[in-house]
Amino acid sequence: MLRRCAMNGGEGPHSYARNSSYQKGFVDVAKPIIEEEISRKLDIKHLSSTFRIADFGCSTGHNSCAAMQIITEAIRRRFEIEGLISQLPDFYVYFNDKVTNDFNTLFNSLPRERLYGAAGVPGSFHGRLLPKAVLNFAYSSCSLNWISEVPKAVLDNTSPAWNRGKIHYEGARREVREEYANQYSKDIESFLDSRAEELVQGGLMALLVPAVPASWDPNSAYTSTSELYLFGSCFMDMAKTGRFSEAKVDSFNIPVYFPIPQEFKAIIERNDKYTIERMEVLDNPGKHNLTGPKDRAAYFRATSEGMLIDHFGSEIIEELFDRYTKKLEASPLFSDPDCDKSIIMFVLLQRKPESYCSAS
Ligand SMILES: C[S@@+](CC[C@H](N)C(=O)[O-])C[C@H]1O[C@@H](n2cnc3c(N)ncnc32)[C@H](O)[C@@H]1O
Repeated sequence: MLRRCAMNGGEGPHSYARNSSYQKGFVDVAKPIIEEEISRKLDIKHLSSTFRIADFGCSTGHNSCAAMQIITEAIRRRFEIEGLISQLPDFYVYFNDKVTNDFNTLFNSLPRERLYGAAGVPGSFHGRLLPKAVLNFAYSSCSLNWISEVPKAVLDNTSPAWNRGKIHYEGARREVREEYANQYSKDIESFLDSRAEELVQGGLMALLVPAVPASWDPNSAYTSTSELYLFGSCFMDMAKTGRFSEAKVDSFNIPVYFPIPQEFKAIIERNDKYTIERMEVLDNPGKHNLTGPKDRAAYFRATSEGMLIDHFGSEIIEELFDRYTKKLEASPLFSDPDCDKSIIMFVLLQRKPESYCSAS
C-alpha cells in the first residue's frame, strides 16, 4: 500500500511549495478562461447567502490559493458589474487533499487579503467528502491524474499485465496500459459521482487535467509518460549495481495516468450527470518555468519522494535523483522545454438537474 503519496510538505529546498512552478502554469493558463466562464455562466441571481467552493487535490497551497483568489475575485467583479455588490455572498473554501498532506503549510500560505473563510477536508477525492448539495463551485488542478491504487495485475507475476522491470506503462506491454486505463476510468467515475452528490443543481466544476496527445514523435518530442519511462530506467540501473533487487522494482509502480482528451470526454459522457460547457486543450506555460534538468528533477522529486521512501527507503533518494538529473542533462530532447508535448485539458462541467440525468 502506498501510504505517503502526498507531495513534499514544508517550505524547504525539496518541498512542493518551492518546486511547483510547472503546476503553477496550469493556473496561469486557465485564469482568463475561468474569469470568462464565471462572467458568462454563473447564475448570480439565484445564489444563497453562502457560496461554497472546493479545491480537490490542493497540496500545500501556493497554487491553490492563487486559483481560489482568481475564482472569488471573478465572482466579486460580476456582482459589482451587475450593481449587486451589496448582495455579495460569504465565500467559503474547502481545501481537500489526502490525510498525509501538509495542511499546516497550506493554512500558513493563505493570503491575508482574501474574500473567503477556509477549511481543510482530508480524504480521498475518489469518494464522498462533503454533505449533499452544498457546493456551488468545484475545482481541481493537476491532481486527477493520480489513480487510487496501482492496478493489482501490474504487480502480479502470474498476470499478462505484470510490469516486470518498469515503474509505469510507457514502453510496457499493451496490457499494462489497459489496466491503468481501466483503473483511471473507474476512479474518474467515482470522482464525478461523488461531486455530483456534493454540487448544487446547476453548480459548476472546473477541471484542469494533465493529459497527453493521442500520439507524439519520440524523436522530437516527449510527454509526462516519457519522463516516467526515463525515470524508471534509473531503477533498473540501480538494481543492476545491487542497490536493491530487481524484484523490489517489479513490486513498485507509480499510480498516475495521463489520458488523451477523447478518453476523458468519453468518461464524462458515460457518467451523464453533467453537461460539458467547455472543453479545450491547453499548452502548459509552466514548462518554461523549469530552467533546466535540475529543476525538472526537483519538481519530480517534490511530487514523488514520499512514495519512493515508503517503498525503497530514504537512503536511495540522492543517488536516484542524481542519476535522473544526469539522464535529463544528457538528452537534448528533455533539456528543451519546447519538446514537452504534455497537454492540459480544461473542462467546465455543469451539474445537471436530477430529473435530466438518465436513470442508470
Ligand atoms: C501535483 S499536486 C497538485 C496540487 C495543486 N492542485 C496544484 O495545482 O499545485 C496533486 C495533488 O493531488 C493530491 N491527490 C492525489 N490523489 C488524491 C486523492 N485521491 N484525494 C485527494 N487528493 C489527492 C496529491 O496529494 C497532491 O497534493
